[in-house]
Amino acid sequence: MAQRLLLTDLLYSQGFGTRRICAGLVQQGLVQMDTGHGWVCVRETDTAVDVVEGMPFMVQGILWQYHTKAYVLLHKPAGTECSHKPSAWPSVYSLLPTPLRQRPAKTGLQGVQAVGRLDQDTTGMLLLSDDGQFIHRMSSPKHHVPKVYELETQEAMHASVVEKLLNGVVLNDDPQPVKAAACALTGSHSMALTLTEGKYHQVKRMLAATGHKVVRLHRARIGDMELDHTLAPGQWRWLSGEEMKALTRKP
Ligand code: URA
Repeated sequence: MAQRLLLTDLLYSQGFGTRRICAGLVQQGLVQMDTGHGWVCVRETDTAVDVVEGMPFMVQGILWQYHTKAYVLLHKPAGTECSHKPSAWPSVYSLLPTPLRQRPAKTGLQGVQAVGRLDQDTTGMLLLSDDGQFIHRMSSPKHHVPKVYELETQEAMHASVVEKLLNGVVLNDDPQPVKAAACALTGSHSMALTLTEGKYHQVKRMLAATGHKVVRLHRARIGDMELDHTLAPGQWRWLSGEEMKALTRKP
């Protein structure tokens, strides 16, 4: 459903800075709107805009989309940390454009936040959002959202490793065994492993409990959504409505 916003408020809601900065962008002729007959530079800050999800607009020549809440997918490359204050590697947040990082807080979150964390050397699907409920829904073990990891180990694995992971292994800080929701060998040194919870270094620790060192770890799927191969490591994009449904579909 369309919502009517003043142009300055629209830019502010999408993370383009304070209302004063947003008004400046408009006054300097840096904002363009699609009229349906082409792009038009709009210089009046109090222009009323009927916004709909995904509505395109341009700021400083860069095409953007309006979204009430931000839901994005990042292909996390190796050598990045899922932290705003990384200790040794660049932050995944540095791979996102500034507006995504400075969207104003509506319910306590400023800018998009990662849905759970991946280790520095893990690659693959990382979701980010400024919707706290969505983040909770996707990361809470109560909701059993399956996450599929592809991994490689240093030494070859015997088929009995699969059985051990499915039956449950004990991690050093937790007497309760943790189980894989699904697990299959995909080669002598490789495996696909599905988890519905996300304890610290869980995959690596589970494999270590079977006597194996993980040398490559990639998250390939979350819920019913796979990482598409058109998204190169380091690239991000908005999630589509269909993908949101696939992610939040009950198992
Ligand atoms: N399990 C791990 O050990 N590392 C990750 O990055 C994700 C899951």
